[in-house]
Amino acid sequence: MLNLTINGKKIQVEEGTTILQAARENGIYIPTLCYDDAVKVYGACGLCVVEAEGIPKLLRSCSAKCSDGMVINTESDRVVQSRKVAMELLMSAHDGDCIAPCQLNCPARTDCQGYVGLIANGEYDAALKLIKNKIPLPASIGRVCPHPCETACRRGKVDEPINIAQLKSFAADIDLNKDKYIPDKKPATGKKVAVIGGGPAGLTVAYRLAVQGHEVHIFDKMEKMGGMLRYGIPQYRLPKEILDEEISIIERTGVKMNNNLTLGKDYTIESLNSFYDAVIVAVGAWKSSNMRTPGEELDGVIGGIDFLRDVALKNDVNIGERVVICGGGNTAMDACRTAVRLGAKEVYCVYRRTRNEMPAEDIEITEAEEEGVQFKFLTNPISFNGESGKVKSITLQIMQLGEPDASGRRKPVPVEGKTEEIEVDSVIVAIGQKLVSDDVKELKLNDRGNIEADIDTFKTSIDGVFAIGDATNRGASIAIEAIGEANRCAVSVDAYLKNEEIETRVPYISRRDEELIDFASKEKCPAIKPKVLGAEQRKDNFDEVCLGYTEEEAKAEASRCLECGCKEYYKCRLLNVAQRYDIHPERFKGEMPQKYTANSNEFIERNSAKCILCGLCVRSCKEVMDISAIGLLGRGFKTEVAPAFNLPLDQTKCNNCGLCVKLCPTGALTEKSSLAKQVPLDESYTEQTVKINNQDAKVLVSRYNGKVIRVIPNDSVSRNSGLTREELASLIK
Ligand code: SF4
Ligand code: SF4
Ligand code: SF4
Ligand code: FES
Repeated sequence: MLNLTINGKKIQVEEGTTILQAARENGIYIPTLCYDDAVKVYGACGLCVVEAEGIPKLLRSCSAKCSDGMVINTESDRVVQSRKVAMELLMSAHDGDCIAPCQLNCPARTDCQGYVGLIANGEYDAALKLIKNKIPLPASIGRVCPHPCETACRRGKVDEPINIAQLKSFAADIDLNKDKYIPDKKPATGKKVAVIGGGPAGLTVAYRLAVQGHEVHIFDKMEKMGGMLRYGIPQYRLPKEILDEEISIIERTGVKMNNNLTLGKDYTIESLNSFYDAVIVAVGAWKSSNMRTPGEELDGVIGGIDFLRDVALKNDVNIGERVVICGGGNTAMDACRTAVRLGAKEVYCVYRRTRNEMPAEDIEITEAEEEGVQFKFLTNPISFNGESGKVKSITLQIMQLGEPDASGRRKPVPVEGKTEEIEVDSVIVAIGQKLVSDDVKELKLNDRGNIEADIDTFKTSIDGVFAIGDATNRGASIAIEAIGEANRCAVSVDAYLKNEEIETRVPYISRRDEELIDFASKEKCPAIKPKVLGAEQRKDNFDEVCLGYTEEEAKAEASRCLECGCKEYYKCRLLNVAQRYDIHPERFKGEMPQKYTANSNEFIERNSAKCILCGLCVRSCKEVMDISAIGLLGRGFKTEVAPAFNLPLDQTKCNNCGLCVKLCPTGALTEKSSLAKQVPLDESYTEQTVKINNQDAKVLVSRYNGKVIRVIPNDSVSRNSGLTREELASLIK
């Protein structure tokens, strides 16, 4: 026996043992990418290096043998630095997207590719569960979200983006009419959390913490929960019956909802903080920003969200027949279209830039135009003029576009001496909204007048008090942004309640350079748009405008997805190792070898652009299976793993045993699932024994949402059985 020390631990091993084996036998982790004990040592990746006292060079632990008295360090600075460089070199030539761009551009990181793919496969309840991992109000958010996911969707570079948001509400509506899914809750922790504000941020953080087993109480000043979703979004975009149902599902997770209680009047932050283990302030931004234009105090000049809230509350709203709305965002469009529905005869939208610069969604502008809203682009109000304290007209300065400003948009500048006057009965100012800072005066505010909250932990100036959403840092944004913060805040609060720290380092992921992707050769397939009510049918009522997808339409639309994110994301060993180190492969980035080959067969999908030339597939095919269906072709930088004689895989001797796929540490080889559309899913794997020709044979069964989606041979009997995957699957009870 040999005596040695690894990371200070004294161990004994038999002669001939490698350092890697010795470490593993003693529960010490050393990363490897080209090693597997089923095949001979190759020593290619350089990840397994360790430092041994008295030996100047780092040793590759997969091949270096232990010797008596060795003192080994597997995590010294030199070792870490060497692995980092090895990893950076590997990743600099690795061409893959770990995560699809749609998901990366969603502020809540919703797995869009996952649920779109599941919808394409008709797996609606699985799609809904995936969405609810990030969004507890998917039917509502699907209807109102300006969908940054779609802006990033690569299908848009081929023809039109996938209608991701519509697909979300499609899956969510099915659930509302059927199961009303509630996730399993963790056992009660005995901790109590107060949430101030029942808008999208408050509801989301409450839902997450309730699922974690905490007792959560929401306090809200309005008569019903929902915040801006209820009081800022008109009924024709989001029917409140849908919102009510989604809120009642959140309530069924155990969240206690307390309405008609006002911060500063009925309670204070400090009073809640003394009673609860944590307090989360999610009060939103309820004050319309003003334009600082003379005459703004006149009767008949109304704030955009004040107007929408009054309509939602069914208060008396008298806007008259001629209405001007100032602003170019979605709230301005909501105000314009609501004014039309209230019977205004002439509705003008005044915006100081052109349509191209309008921040509102294009569909909102188009539908407003169809409903008769008249747009006055390149105009800016310079005074609201009144008689006896009531607004009578508005004077507009005519503008033109000048040089780009800090936001990159061309700055509107006045055309000297050119103005226009419009007679009005009322003016709605919808240029933004802000926090009512008096409500939160107990907390430290930033120079914008918003609550100062740490961007990672959401902690405020008071211990135990967290803040999220429109009331914090940069101020009001879209609902999904607040939901993303709420999800991360729930992790932070959960850690705080357990006296733990949260990880704030953003883990590395591989991303493709879109400039290098060949979109031109992709087959075009135009988007399927959901049906909407015609302008005449909709403009005198608050019926929902968008009629949503039929099942057939939803499946067809979802099937257009290009499957951008890597199918191996959940079990990729390359990514697992990469994320352990603070790597920056861009410093080695040269010209990316364009080596994608769609050389797949019925069961195995090959993508050579993700191959790191570890050789495990080649060696296992030769040494274990004695088949050699694949080999290394070419030399130096041109080396590539390819089927023998560069033939299509199904024209080689490949017997689809799947061993190469199992050993491949990357997404270069993947085993297709039984789903028609391949989706990266966090599957669970179990080994099962089945009978093949009266012999015991082992297979690996992967399940998702309780359904078997892959059965993979897992020993020599099953690998040599010649059975297809379907035949193997039929053996699973
Ligand atoms: S193979 Fe791994 S590292 Fe590469 S894109 Fe796929 S998940 Fe990311
Ligand atoms: S094509 Fe699919 S995976 Fe790719 S960005 Fe669009 S929705 Fe996401
Ligand atoms: S395809 Fe083969 S050589 Fe390439 S990463 Fe996978 S196992 Fe290694
Ligand atoms: S060099 Fe040892 S595992 Fe790759």
